[in-house]
Amino acid sequence: MKISILYGSLRDNSNTKKLLLPFMDELKRHKAELDFITVKNLHIEPCTACWVCQDIFSKPGCPKNDDMNLIYDSVQKADCIVFASPVYSWYCTPPFKAVMDRLVYGMNKYYGKEPGPCLWKNKKLALITTCGYEIEAGAGVFEEGVRRYAKHSNLHYLGMLAVRDIESKTAFTNDKTVKLAKQFANKVISSLE
Ligand SMILES: Cc1cc2nc3c(=O)[nH]c(=O)nc-3n(C[C@H](O)[C@H](O)[C@H](O)COP(=O)(O)O)c2cc1C
Repeated sequence: MKISILYGSLRDNSNTKKLLLPFMDELKRHKAELDFITVKNLHIEPCTACWVCQDIFSKPGCPKNDDMNLIYDSVQKADCIVFASPVYSWYCTPPFKAVMDRLVYGMNKYYGKEPGPCLWKNKKLALITTCGYEIEAGAGVFEEGVRRYAKHSNLHYLGMLAVRDIESKTAFTNDKTVKLAKQFANKVISSLE
């Protein structure tokens, strides 16, 4: 079981990371092989809609040739991909959005001269997020976007783990959040067995 975890927070003392730690501990306890990638440490250019990738069917084929190649490799090897970003302006952080855009074009060859393949068809996709508003108000739009993104990409969407940050007073590593994170990890594991 290979799981690619793409982590998009920009903060050092990150709520999302605190949620991810027990999630990853539980995945490791089940002997899952994790590839944890901190997006902010990479140089990833935004997609500039050149469309070159759309006519290259055997690989992501993005001519930018930056650190996105690490993510393309990780995702192609994975059975499950975890998008882990806090909510910024009802969606995700800017570097994480660049990753999502580069993946949705690099991996889905739908818009070239001829219709092409979906390179990540049938993989699983899970979402982990934290937000300031109540979950539906804060993370609902992001989740709906990811749900549609998964459908468009022929990925099996496994659901969302979301915890609210109430004015920086929420302890993200209390018994309740650790339990939620572990339960979510078990949901991911059972989908892969
Ligand atoms: C620029 C910015 C935009 C944000 N936008 C939203 C938002 O639209 N909705 C929301 O519920 N929370 C929003 N938040 C709150 C964060 O999602 C929340 O504090 C989150 O837990 C931060 O996660 P992190 O510590 O992992 O970076 C925003 C925070 C920042 C800094």
